[in-house]
Amino acid sequence: MTCSPLEAEYVRTFARSQAAFERALPCFPDGVTHVSREMQPFPVMVERAAGARKWTIEGREVVDYMMGHGALLLGHSHPAVVDAVQRQVARCTHPGGSTELEIEWAEAVQRLLPSVERIRFVASGTEAAMLAVRLARTFTGKPRLLRFQGHFHGWSDGLIPESNAPHGGPELGVPAPAILSLPPGDLNRIEEALRTHQDIAAAILEPTGGHWGEVPLGREFLQGLREITARHGVLLICDEVITGFRVAPGGAQEKFGVCADLTVMAKILAGGLPGGAVGGRADVMDLLAASGAGPKVRHPGTFNGNPVSAAAGVAALQCVADGTAQRRADEVASQVRVGLNRIIREEGLPWRAYGTFSDFHIRTGYDGPQPDDGSFIPYDGAFEPLSAPLPRGLVNATRQAMLLEGVDWFGLRGVTSAAHTEADVQLTLSAFGNALRRLRAAGIV
Ligand SMILES: Cc1ncc(COP(=O)(O)O)c(C=O)c1O
Repeated sequence: MTCSPLEAEYVRTFARSQAAFERALPCFPDGVTHVSREMQPFPVMVERAAGARKWTIEGREVVDYMMGHGALLLGHSHPAVVDAVQRQVARCTHPGGSTELEIEWAEAVQRLLPSVERIRFVASGTEAAMLAVRLARTFTGKPRLLRFQGHFHGWSDGLIPESNAPHGGPELGVPAPAILSLPPGDLNRIEEALRTHQDIAAAILEPTGGHWGEVPLGREFLQGLREITARHGVLLICDEVITGFRVAPGGAQEKFGVCADLTVMAKILAGGLPGGAVGGRADVMDLLAASGAGPKVRHPGTFNGNPVSAAAGVAALQCVADGTAQRRADEVASQVRVGLNRIIREEGLPWRAYGTFSDFHIRTGYDGPQPDDGSFIPYDGAFEPLSAPLPRGLVNATRQAMLLEGVDWFGLRGVTSAAHTEADVQLTLSAFGNALRRLRAAGIV
């Protein structure tokens, strides 16, 4: 099969990555270890990273907007995190017992998130969301969970269905979960659903909107949801795996002025190492206490409160506590969005870059207003047009073209960090202009 000149250049440029990928194919399905790392004809292999940059095994330097799948608000290998991890690794990686470090980690979270009266650490965001739902069901004695289409809460059986709705198919190997799934954004429908269904334990959501804010939600919706759930005796679970410590030191709850009953955390929480947590109301969390009067929810987990993750987490949370890192990452994202839109307009493309925090998304097939404003949301934030899948071939080709120009992002979206500089932004924007010319030359746009 012949490939486009763009793909041919990608293959030539990243030949060592291709050779490594051929070794990976007999090891991993699709040759990758995470569904979002799949790329045609192969992904680049990364050798090392620092700040906002990473280097492929060919030695090609790229500006990174994958940022550890959002875990690295401070950039790659921040010196304070590296130092804390190195010191801890030499002390112990798993003492098989409690540590003062995990207390320090918990206190750091509690200082930033006042809704966290008690906390338990787990090994990932998936585990944290699973535990939060189990606690809510036990606390309320009700089986059903209200969730929103297109909101992702990890890949557990109970939570992966509907995370790509309305466009995804059924999840294979997953029994029918006890959920009620609604499109996001419609408070009237939620009110109606809670009135009709008396068996709902909790509502869970990504507070800035599904898929990292691809379909943004704002203050009014979150405050409305808080009010409705409280009135119906339904717990509110904020999944702050992305937003926690990123959209503000106290996450979306601080930004939007709400207080969740339970909060799901991961990513920045553990400073870029594996780790997650559930925190929230003491009366709910105390279901985990053996001494509690109510039923005890069991919570084992070999890597709960792992000291290396704790060391990284304490260091990272200290660095993000005053809001400077978040402001910087937001500013970079805004500059990137404004710059991308200028180039999109110059090129006459029906595309629009948007985002509400340190994120950016490009929506293709858009022919609405194109204001200069970096905070403009296309389609007024409507769910259907913003959640429609982007053409896979275009996303893949854009990623190839951007990698050739020295930038890595998730195809048509990315996440910024406090480590990105003005020079990184300028390089990104000129890479984007050149990438579009490559896509045109290949007949892709
Ligand atoms: C909002 C949200 N919740 C949960 C998860 C799952 O976290 P993890 O990948 O640590 O299991 C993710 C992962 O990206 C996420 O974005």
